[in-house]
Amino acid sequence: MKLQGKVALVTGTSPNIGGGIAEALAAEGAALICVDAARANAEDCANAIKAAGGRATGKVCDVLDQDQVRRTVEEACAEFGRIDVLVNNAVIFNKKGVLNMPLAEWEKQIGVILTGAFLFTKHVAQSMIDRKTKGVIINIISTAGHQGEPGNIAYSTAKCGMLNFTRSAAMELVGHGIRVNSLTPTATDPTESDVRAARWGRAVPSPNPARDAAFDVFRRGVPMQRLPRPSDYGRAAVFLASDDSDMMTGTDLRIDGGAVARYWAWNPARENV
Ligand SMILES: NC(=O)c1ccc[n+]([C@@H]2O[C@H](COP(=O)([O-])OP(=O)(O)OC[C@H]3O[C@@H](n4cnc5c(N)ncnc54)[C@H](O)[C@@H]3O)[C@@H](O)[C@H]2O)c1
Repeated sequence: MKLQGKVALVTGTSPNIGGGIAEALAAEGAALICVDAARANAEDCANAIKAAGGRATGKVCDVLDQDQVRRTVEEACAEFGRIDVLVNNAVIFNKKGVLNMPLAEWEKQIGVILTGAFLFTKHVAQSMIDRKTKGVIINIISTAGHQGEPGNIAYSTAKCGMLNFTRSAAMELVGHGIRVNSLTPTATDPTESDVRAARWGRAVPSPNPARDAAFDVFRRGVPMQRLPRPSDYGRAAVFLASDDSDMMTGTDLRIDGGAVARYWAWNPARENV
């Protein structure tokens, strides 16, 4: 087990990507602090990890509230001794463009993504420095942070900002033995998240041809012609959290089936038929 004895805190532990990453870290031996503004997502994730034989706790915390972030980090360190791994994953989606995005919604979405990562990085890194422990921080980006996506202005702007937040924090913290890297997912096959949600006791979604068609459009644009699953990101997060990546800091690891590397004019679906 690559993370035996480590303590990891993941924000935004829905049954989708955050839950998948939390379960992957736990499967490699890490104890987990599952943090979410929604109590069900914090507690269901922690309960699933405990049911699989791991050690975990769920914490309700709004990543935008500095007092709650500080208290969550203090409680986690009191209960588990320290935090070795932080995954900044929490997000809200709100697909609006520059012309129709109200200022308050822009500030909220930018805030959850960027300010939330800033606050957790600040307080978790300080807790590592105070204890003189080395640590790892992983920021979850999106292919929308690498490219100009129309109609998703706050999301793609904040995710691009996270890339340089990662590099800047990596430079600032390298002298303390804290590595900071990012992980880029892309449009994600929803099947595994549905299975995870059902395993967590949530309702099984009914068949949804419109959703399947929307994901098929994404799939056809990916050079590998299939979409990644949360467990694919989970394995990458284990790599970034473990000593296997101990010479990596300030780097982005893309798990996108080749989406960002694709030459813009090449249609991989058309070429393959
Ligand atoms: N779903 C995708 O296809 C996709 C693609 C690329 C990147 N990503 C990235 O992966 C990450 C996870 O995405 P997901 O699809 O699993 O999202 P999700 O909506 O399923 O989960 C996000 C979680 O964040 C929590 N959250 C929201 N605001 C919060 C706050 N203020 N404080 C604490 N928690 C809060 C929500 O309650 C939720 O549990 C995000 O960073 C997202 O940008 C997702």
